[in-house]
Amino acid sequence: RTVYVNGVFCPEDEGKVSIFDRGFLFADAVYEVVSVLDGKLVDFAGHMARLARSLGELAMAAPTSDDELLAIHRRLIAENALEEGAVYLQVTRGPADRDFLFPPQDTKPSLVLFTQAAALRDKPAARTGIRVVTLPDLRWQRRDIKTVQLLYPSMAKTEAKRRGADDAWMVEDGCVTEGSSNNAYIVDAGGKLVTRPLSHAILPGITRIAVLRLAAESGIAIKERPFTVDEALAAKEAFISSASSFVMPVVEIDGQPIADGRPGEITRRLRAIYIEEAL
Ligand code: PDD
Repeated sequence: RTVYVNGVFCPEDEGKVSIFDRGFLFADAVYEVVSVLDGKLVDFAGHMARLARSLGELAMAAPTSDDELLAIHRRLIAENALEEGAVYLQVTRGPADRDFLFPPQDTKPSLVLFTQAAALRDKPAARTGIRVVTLPDLRWQRRDIKTVQLLYPSMAKTEAKRRGADDAWMVEDGCVTEGSSNNAYIVDAGGKLVTRPLSHAILPGITRIAVLRLAAESGIAIKERPFTVDEALAAKEAFISSASSFVMPVVEIDGQPIADGRPGEITRRLRAIYIEEAL
């Protein structure tokens, strides 16, 4: 694979970042994952808008213009002949002497991008649904910023797998915040789509924006409010959304099936129209 590191396109084993990089030492870095379908970027502008927001919240300089970032994405897709998968982008505050204090403003940010091939459209899990287990949300309180502090989500997903499930739904004050790397939804008994409102407690998913728009366009009632684990267990349907999973049904929580334990109708419809529009 060809990767991009600080202005240079090179083979992946030649891409290098300083051991003093604050991304490495302090997780002082933000990232984006843009999915690629049929060689095309999905919702690029939305991801760049969120990147700008993440950078702003951390007083980090933008590494370059959005036009330049688009050109880098496109060149990596072309050089790696990527048909389906994702482009990963990370910006760190750059290399500096190890100090908790943010370094001077003129520190050069690091910019790294690489591609990852993956089947996104035809995933077996999209037909069968995924199983989740609930775990306490032990992340920090600014989950709206897309930082690379992913140790807890990584631990949670690993624990979910150990318990025979596919992912974790993280819980705070009795309500579901998010999946380990996705937003969470249920369809309640009245057929209403329920998802947590945006706040510092969750990441503002770019796929979430599309899902809520597509649901509204399809005449599905939407209520943005926190929901409890018990509500999710009693729901008609449940699903997650993210750039890498699009819309993915959830059919089991903590070993208990949701409804008949099969992907719900609204979930399947939203997945289909999301992919149709992305193509
Ligand atoms: N994760 N919530 C969390 C905690 C996430 O990490 C993600 C994305 C989302 C969904 O956001 P979006 O729809 O913009 O992808 C919600 C990416 C895919 C990742 O870490 O790989």
